Amino acid sequence: MTATVEMIIGEEKVQARSGATFDVINPATEQVQATAPEADQADVDRAVDQARKAFDEGPWPKMTPGERGRLLYRYTELIERENDALGRLDTEDMGKPITHSTQHDAPAAADFIRFCAGLCDKLRGSQIPYGASKHIYLLREPVGVVAGILPWNFPLVMAAQKVGPALACGNVIILKPAEQSPRSAVLLGELALEAGIPPGVVNVVTGQGATGAVLVSHPKVDKISFTGSTEVGRSIMHAAAEQIRKVTLELGGKTANIVCADADVDAALAATAFTCSYNSGQICTTGSRLVIHRKLHDGFLDELTSRLGKLKVGDPLESDTKLGPLVSREQHEKVRGYVEVGSRQYTPIVCGNGASAQDRGYYVDPTIFDHVDPDAQIAQEEIFGPVLSVIDFDDEREAIEIANRTSYGLAAALWTNDLSQAHRMAAAIDSSFVWINCTNFWGPSIPYEGHRQSGVGVDMGVELYESYTKIKNVIIDLDNTPNPWATS
Ligand code: NAI
Ligand code: MG
Repeated sequence: MTATVEMIIGEEKVQARSGATFDVINPATEQVQATAPEADQADVDRAVDQARKAFDEGPWPKMTPGERGRLLYRYTELIERENDALGRLDTEDMGKPITHSTQHDAPAAADFIRFCAGLCDKLRGSQIPYGASKHIYLLREPVGVVAGILPWNFPLVMAAQKVGPALACGNVIILKPAEQSPRSAVLLGELALEAGIPPGVVNVVTGQGATGAVLVSHPKVDKISFTGSTEVGRSIMHAAAEQIRKVTLELGGKTANIVCADADVDAALAATAFTCSYNSGQICTTGSRLVIHRKLHDGFLDELTSRLGKLKVGDPLESDTKLGPLVSREQHEKVRGYVEVGSRQYTPIVCGNGASAQDRGYYVDPTIFDHVDPDAQIAQEEIFGPVLSVIDFDDEREAIEIANRTSYGLAAALWTNDLSQAHRMAAAIDSSFVWINCTNFWGPSIPYEGHRQSGVGVDMGVELYESYTKIKNVIIDLDNTPNPWATS
């Protein structure tokens, strides 16, 4: 049965005014499982009007921070109540294994909102000392209407990472989920209303890239928060430049997973198999480059190949599936294209676990390319699939140089038991996360900010207020001191 998706605009559930829709395809079955409204300028105008009204005239930005926190806690409870439904929507829409969506993603989404709920009444401005002549206080005010453009790799978690911070700081938001995976964001919008968050504070419009483009160039939007490709991030920054608007961008990555000569090999192996294949390699922090000491290379690679070959592939709705399909036909073609590019230069090691033998669905076999030149295309560009480039190194300096030798700077992991080496390398690696003897570790209280082409602006942590508030200084004269800048 094909589901019909509705958008959340103000307190209404609506279709596009034009009646246009697009299909949402289940990547495991290649069947249409839902049709969703394709919002155009008229629908985006309507959502922006509702959001503006909620911000400019509604109770939300004016209520006490404690009251906002109370509503966000209630929201968290509803997300927990709908945990399995939310997880299942992501699994059906984009193919991640159901255990990942229901046991990791949905609880993580609740955790992100809960963290933001707790932050509401703890964010504060400051007082700036200026002797006896002035009283100066600095306020942190909400920026207003936020446009949140979402990717499909963690549909629900990313929606929560946009909604929570925006709301904690007193803003309102319009979400535009990815066209591949719109349904969990829509349910999140419905739950906001059920929680008693005022209408217009959380709106959800659906559509493809063109809908996102209309939203980010809307003159009544105050801030854009985007997670997705570096290419679209760049175009959003251009759109933001037209209106001199605030942007937060969380973009691509090419994580180096560095295994030093003295590493705990078992721990590094388990983590490497995880980081290059989890979510079918569709994470901005996927450990897509294994940078390994020459001495460990051969044994490590044999064992890694064997482990990747044993990952249970199949229907993502089955509880023992570890590797689902890629999100879409487009992504399938992109990843297979990279495997072809790599195969022109290197012999692919196909970790045949039957992924590509599935009779339907956008599955690919985990694939390793060995002894890859750090400058090769497959070692430089974000593939977003379970495709690993292995690069050897001999000394610490070389490993650091390889880690930093891409246009991205989102994350790196390193495996070593040498404390001084670990700290030297952490200092020298240019990325927002450096994981030592662990990988892909993140959570609501950990702020991140992509270095170089991985992004602009801080996401999450207490620091999120830097991205979701604007500063106002109130300066009061106390004793008629002449302005030192005045010329007469
Ligand atoms: P994308 O960047 O095109 O899509 C992300 C979101 O942006 C979607 O909601 C899309 O509708 C919207 N969008 C597209 N064009 C837009 C525009 N001109 N203005 C405003 N919004 C727009 O990513 P796509 O095409 O789905 O994936 C391509 C590649 O991007 C992937 O292969 C991967 O390398 C990278 N990617 C990175 C992500 C990350 O977490 N950093 C997440 C998703 C994709
Ligand atoms: Mg795109």
